[in-house]
Amino acid sequence: MILDANLGWLGDAYPWVKAAHLTFVIFWIAGLFLLPRFYVYHHATAPGSAEDRAWIERERRTRSIILTPAMLIVWVLGLALAFHLGAWGMGWFSAKLFFVLLLTGYQGWLGAYGRKLARGDRPLENRTLRIMNEVPGIMTAIIVVLVIVKPF
Ligand code: HEM
Repeated sequence: MILDANLGWLGDAYPWVKAAHLTFVIFWIAGLFLLPRFYVYHHATAPGSAEDRAWIERERRTRSIILTPAMLIVWVLGLALAFHLGAWGMGWFSAKLFFVLLLTGYQGWLGAYGRKLARGDRPLENRTLRIMNEVPGIMTAIIVVLVIVKPF
C-alpha cells in the first residue's frame, strides 16, 4: 500500500475522485433500493391497466436516468482509485470486487425482471420479491466494512 495516498497517478486529485466515487455510490445504491420497491407496487396492478403502464414508465426512467449512469460512473471512478492505490491483489479489494460484481449482476437481474413485468408476467411471489429487496442493503454493509475496516 502507498503510504502517501496522493503519490499514485491521480496525484492531488485522489481525494476528489474518492469524493465523486462516494457521491455516485450513493446515487447507485439509492436506485437499487428504489427499483425493487417499485416492483412490489407494480406486482399489485393488473397487466395492461393505466397503473401498470405508469409503473413500467417509472421503472424505465429509474433504470435509464439513475441506475445505469450511476453504476458506470462508480465503476470508472472505482477502477481509477484502484489503479491509483495499486490495490490489485489486496485482500480487501479482491473481496470488494467480488461483492461489487454481485451487485452489478443483481442490477442485471432487476433489468430482466422489469422486462418480464412490462410483458405482464409476475413470476415471483410477493414474499420472494421482498426478500430480494434486502440484497442491496446487505451487499452495501459488507462492501463498506471491506473498504473502511480493510479487515484483510
Ligand atoms: C464498482 C466498482 C468499485 C470499485 C472498483 C471500487 C474501488 C474503490 C477504491 C480503490 C477505493 C479507494 C480505497 C481507499 O482509498 O482506501 C474506494 C473507496 C470507497 N468505496 Fe469503492 N469501489 C467500487 C464500488 C463501490 C461500492 C458499490 C461501494 C459501496 C456500496 C463503495 C464504497 C466505497 C467507500 C465507502 C470508499 C471510501 C473508503 C475510504 O474512505 O478510504 N465502492 N472504492
